[in-house]
Amino acid sequence: MKPSRGQTFLIALILSAVAIAVATAVIVHGLTARRYHEPELPEAWAHRENPLRSDPESASRGRAIYMLKGCVLCHGAHADGKGSAAKGMTPPPSDFANGDVLKTHSDAWLFWRISEGKRGTGMPSWSGALTEQERWDLVNYLRRFEKR
Ligand code: HEC
Repeated sequence: MKPSRGQTFLIALILSAVAIAVATAVIVHGLTARRYHEPELPEAWAHRENPLRSDPESASRGRAIYMLKGCVLCHGAHADGKGSAAKGMTPPPSDFANGDVLKTHSDAWLFWRISEGKRGTGMPSWSGALTEQERWDLVNYLRRFEKR
């Protein structure tokens, strides 16, 4: 049976309504996707325990890595986020000396961040460049900046 004019019109109307809804969804998604929501610490990383003692040896190994591998370029020699490469960076590199990053996060969280980097920021992933021990040494070094 051939559809009547009225039916054709109705189908056209429904199709355009669907098209408009899809277009709106795409635009809204495009606008909100830019506001990237930081995921929580993934389950696979949450149970990781710092295998190293937080002693001066570990911290000083961590400091050497921090200086040699480039953390210092962004996070700065005083871990205040004022490294030479930090100018104009949005968001700026974290200030560990004064911010509450260390106070509010576990070793596992810091280890995860250093390992995986932080999407949408200049923070690279280090799991390819640094061994697990080097990354835990960095955690122990950063802890030295924690205000107690
Ligand atoms: C190219 C610049 C750059 C380098 C190099 C870099 N970082 Fe970052 N780092 C950032 C930025 C930018 C952030 C995100 C800050 C924010 O989200 O507010 C960040 C975030 C972090 C965080 C998470 C803290 C937070 O506020 O979310 C840790 C931990 C960290 N960096 C440690 C390191 C360590 C350790 C190294 C060296 C192995 C390093 N970073 C190298 C730029 C850098």
